[in-house]
Formats: sequence, structure tokens, C-alpha cells
Amino acid sequence: MTSPTPLPATLRAARAARNASASSSLIGVFDSGVGGLSVLRALHRQLPQAPLLYVADAGHAPYGDRDPAHVQQRSERVVDHLVDQGARVVVIACNTATAWAVDGVRTRHPGVAFVGVEPGVKPAALASARRSIAVMATPSTLASERYADLVRRHAPDCQVHPVPCNGLAAAIERGEAGLAEVDRLLDLYCAPLASLGIDTVVLGCTHYPFVAERIAARLGPGIRLLDTADAVARRAVDLLAPSAEHADAAATVELQTTGDPDLLARMALSGLGRTLPVQRIQI
Ligand code: DGL
Repeated sequence: MTSPTPLPATLRAARAARNASASSSLIGVFDSGVGGLSVLRALHRQLPQAPLLYVADAGHAPYGDRDPAHVQQRSERVVDHLVDQGARVVVIACNTATAWAVDGVRTRHPGVAFVGVEPGVKPAALASARRSIAVMATPSTLASERYADLVRRHAPDCQVHPVPCNGLAAAIERGEAGLAEVDRLLDLYCAPLASLGIDTVVLGCTHYPFVAERIAARLGPGIRLLDTADAVARRAVDLLAPSAEHADAAATVELQTTGDPDLLARMALSGLGRTLPVQRIQI
């Protein structure tokens, strides 16, 4: 009996490349909770054939009112999990986690492509005729060096008013039950904006698009709201495009949470317009 002929090196390399690109079609997406669903929705619209795995770290939220060390440690934990599940592109659908943890996870996983989300200071500065904008975000995002750098680089000639929205993401995270608190906080945070002469408000937290209509109602007409979900999704699609042809035609969207699965399922239904099973995980 002859032993099997070893594969020629070129064939082995081609197979390895194909396997690598096939496994890299999974996109991992995470946030401290439901906020990143807006990015997930944009991704699914732009790349319907790519399998998506979303993790809401709701059992350890909010991120934005907490110590940066907590955000870094939790982001590492969630990214390790997504990579274990096969993700080779990870979208950090959270401004706070991007601000404090993107450098750390990039160093920890050099083979993974990361897409972060940052407050849309650049498009806001480009769009503002009055050269005056406000940035609603978590206290932690606004306190970060990455945010300060964003303003220095992209809005040097603009008045940029930071609006730290303590507690707002946590109230949004509670769904229907948190709406009275959302209204109370929005009254508080939006009232001072009227006298600032701004024409553009950046939604610098992925939770805030869920209450965009409530914010717009308080700001009145003539003030534009900007969020970056579509731009972030486009960047992830660009990274993934070369391997997208390997993706499953009937791609799945999977949701996992470290918090309450029913809540995530309800928010997914209202945000994505479809019922998806949610798995509770402990990581
Ligand atoms: N959605 C997150 C962000 O974009 C933060 C929410 C939180 O505070 O946990 O910053």
C-alpha cells in the first residue's frame, strides 16, 4: 500500500487561505447593552449574507458612568469570547469602550480587525453652518483623551459643547420601564442647549438613537441630530468585503447577553423589526 501523497505546498496554502477567509466571515459586535443594535441593524442591511454575533454586556452595564478600568476589563472579556466563537472582525459598537479599550484589545488580538465607534465630531463640524455643535455622550467618553484628540483634530474652529448624560444609557437600557426617567434626564440635559446657538447635536453614545425622537422634540426644528451607525457599518463591510463571498447565503444573526434575555429580545424586535432568540451567557 502506498501512503497518501502529501498535498503540494501551493494547494495547502490555498486551502488554508480559503479556510481562514471562510471563518473570518463572522462579524462580532458588542456593546454594554442594547445600544449597539443600531449598528447591528446597519450592518445587516449593508451585508445581509454575513453571519453576525451580537453580545450585550448588560450584566456589567452601564460602562459610561464607571471607572475606565471596568470598561477595559469587560471589553477584553467580551472580545476574547467573540474571538473564541470565530469572529475575525469585531465591531465595538460602543463609544465608551472604543474610547478606553480599543488600543488594549488591538494589542491583545493582533490578528483581528477592529472597528470602533466614536462621536461624529468630524461630520458635525463639517455640517455646522453656525460653527457650534453639542456632543451628547457618556461622562466617561467625554473625559477620554481620544475624545479630546477628536475635537482637536476635526473641530479646531468650532465651539464644541460637551453634554455628559449621566444615567441616560442606563435608563434607555431599561426599555419601556425606563422612559419616565429618560424624559426627566432629557429635560435636564437638553434645556441648556437652547441658548448655545448650536445647529448640530452629535449622538455620541449608541444608546441615544433609540430616543432620538424624544431628543429632537426637545431641541425643536433647525437642529440636526447626527449618529454614526451607518458609517461604522460601512467600515466593517469594507474590511469584510474580500471574504464576503464565502459567507452563508442564509446567514444568521445571533444575540447573546450577560443580562436579561427578554429585555434584549424586546429591544431587538423594536430596533431590528424581527424576533430573534437570545442566549444568556456568563463570561
Ligand atoms: N452605548 C455605550 C456608548 O456608546 C455606552 C452605554 C453605557 O454607558 O453603558 O458609549
